[in-house]
Amino acid sequence: MKDYKRTLITCALPYANGPVHIGHLAGVYVPADIYVRYLRMRGREVLFVCGSDEHGVPVTMAARKEGCSPQDIVDKYHNIIKNSFRDFGVEFDIYSRTTSAVHHKNAAQFFRKLYEEGKFIERESEQFYDPEAKVFLADRYIVGTCPKCGAEGAYGDQCEKCGSTLSPEELINPHSKVSGAEPVKKKTKHWYLPLQQYEGWLREWILEGHKEWKTNVYGQVKSWLDGGLQPRAVSRDLDWGVPVPVEGAEGKVLYVWFDAPIGYISNTMELLPDDWEKWWKSPDTRLIHFIGKDNIVFHCIVFPSMLKAYGDGFILPENVPANEFLNLEGDKISTSKGWAVWLHEYLQDFPGKQDTLRYVLAANAPETKDNDFSWKDFQARNNSELVAIFGNFVNRAVVLTHKYFGGVVPEAVKSEPVDGETLSQMAGIRASIEENIENFKFREALKEAMNLARLGNKYLADTEPWAVAKSDLDRTAAILNTSLQICANLAVAFAPFTPFSVKKLCGILNVSPFGWDDFGRTDLIPAGHTLNKAELLFSKVEDEDIQKQLDRLETIRQARLAAEAEAAPKVAAPKDACTFDEFEKMDIRTATVLAAERVPKTDKLLKLTIDTGLDRRVIVSGIAEYYTPEEMVGKQICILANLQPRTIRGIESQGMILMAKQLDGKMRFITPAETLSNGSSIG
Ligand code: 2FM
Ligand code: ZN
Repeated sequence: MKDYKRTLITCALPYANGPVHIGHLAGVYVPADIYVRYLRMRGREVLFVCGSDEHGVPVTMAARKEGCSPQDIVDKYHNIIKNSFRDFGVEFDIYSRTTSAVHHKNAAQFFRKLYEEGKFIERESEQFYDPEAKVFLADRYIVGTCPKCGAEGAYGDQCEKCGSTLSPEELINPHSKVSGAEPVKKKTKHWYLPLQQYEGWLREWILEGHKEWKTNVYGQVKSWLDGGLQPRAVSRDLDWGVPVPVEGAEGKVLYVWFDAPIGYISNTMELLPDDWEKWWKSPDTRLIHFIGKDNIVFHCIVFPSMLKAYGDGFILPENVPANEFLNLEGDKISTSKGWAVWLHEYLQDFPGKQDTLRYVLAANAPETKDNDFSWKDFQARNNSELVAIFGNFVNRAVVLTHKYFGGVVPEAVKSEPVDGETLSQMAGIRASIEENIENFKFREALKEAMNLARLGNKYLADTEPWAVAKSDLDRTAAILNTSLQICANLAVAFAPFTPFSVKKLCGILNVSPFGWDDFGRTDLIPAGHTLNKAELLFSKVEDEDIQKQLDRLETIRQARLAAEAEAAPKVAAPKDACTFDEFEKMDIRTATVLAAERVPKTDKLLKLTIDTGLDRRVIVSGIAEYYTPEEMVGKQICILANLQPRTIRGIESQGMILMAKQLDGKMRFITPAETLSNGSSIG
């Protein structure tokens, strides 16, 4: 890899329509923060940029729901998010927002340049429109019954009940979320970035040039490119966002996914108005985007194409280490369903335990596949790893030094080979942590850091200074000196992962923070140095703390089940009673379809020629939505044979096919379980 002068690290800008949760943290912010802390410890020049993504339809929907303005929504969540990152120790150089004046100006300028240089195509298309509210409707603003599972309230892009991807056209009884009116199609003009023009270049840059990218990222890019790229709209009909800065674009804003990545640049400009270009336009800068898997296409295909179209020396990402998703207690995290652990709430519920969450999320990071977060695992990792391995080792070393040497680091006067052998293992651990972090394998790196604490514990268990002290204080001195050097090295190894505890550890050891290059040294704490008093590095997570969290989730699960039951399609109410004579009047029989064809100029009707055993006749049936003519031919069905003939579309229909209407509204015909002779009476 080229030796770069500086590294620009961006984290996906979180949407400011809700707080951040553990899924965001595990996927993006914890790994990025580990990486940044590591580079900073190595003395590298780093810039760490993030901010809130404040535009887009979900913000306007949240505002409508809460009866306030979109600005109120983003103000609220921007502050919650910004403060929770700060309190969690994610140390951005800047955390700004896409409603900032700098960003609006920059995003508009970016669009205008591409527009003026003819980099967009203009297209008119038909989009859904709410004729009462007089607004165009994004797919999410159209709701109806899911055609797949029958659930009410499915969105025009997805059914949250069954997870199916939908288009508004597929919804049964579609209506606008704004006014309730049935949407109509209306013509509108938008600008598109012709991504297909960048396909060859993207192939060469990523598929040829970046085979080292994570397989999930490389694979997704490849499949997008293999599928063929299409022009992508970069504007929307909406009243919330960066107005499209050209004439004739009233009521249109930049598509949120066009303006958000430009936000990375705007935020850098805001921080360094005179110096931002060296971070974005110098070949000496290495750009890394930390994102979740749902953002891959935007960061590997769309944003790079935008930058390429813009030209002017913008650099491209050197890597995009996207993670998979984190689930919560076996279920997908969902903001709308409340199935999440929110960072700001965690910080309130577990004061002083930032590192426990940082540790658990890094140890469990969904680097290669989706992973699960469970509160029991959280408790176990805290109590049996942080407390019992790392904390316990440090505590024993410090307490024993106080006990036998008054808290003053003793000289290693009586060394034995095991001391040197143990200390020499630190170099291998350091090399492994470095290699893993540099390759974005933070779980492995963290495991190695914990192995250093394990090494310390094993050393103490093997050398037993508490027993040796009874007869040989010189040997005890050497053992404790060795142990304290390991403690100091732990303050290096864990610094990128658990910064709060490392700060505490440095306080206990009475040392200033170390640099990465100190890692492996065996003289980090000189003899004669006085330690501060021993303190527990980590405290236990108690059962009741975990139970509280589990109870909260159970309440959410129950509420969700109740809401689902409420929304579930209902069986039709029973009809009024009929007499046996009335029933007897109906001549229901089996018949076989001999031929079937669509009735011209209709969507719903099929003309079926059937053998009833009594005769051959024609029935016109409204089943074309559910069956093709080919599917019907040869099928045995049940018919009401004595229904009075009716003329439908000029064809005389002699009877009716018996159909079952399912809960999802779909119709299926009734067929005997085994083939019967045609004309068999049913009753
Ligand atoms: O998926 C998301 O949360 C988006 N708000 C990420 C935007 S990243 C960037 F491009 F701004
Ligand atoms: Zn569904």
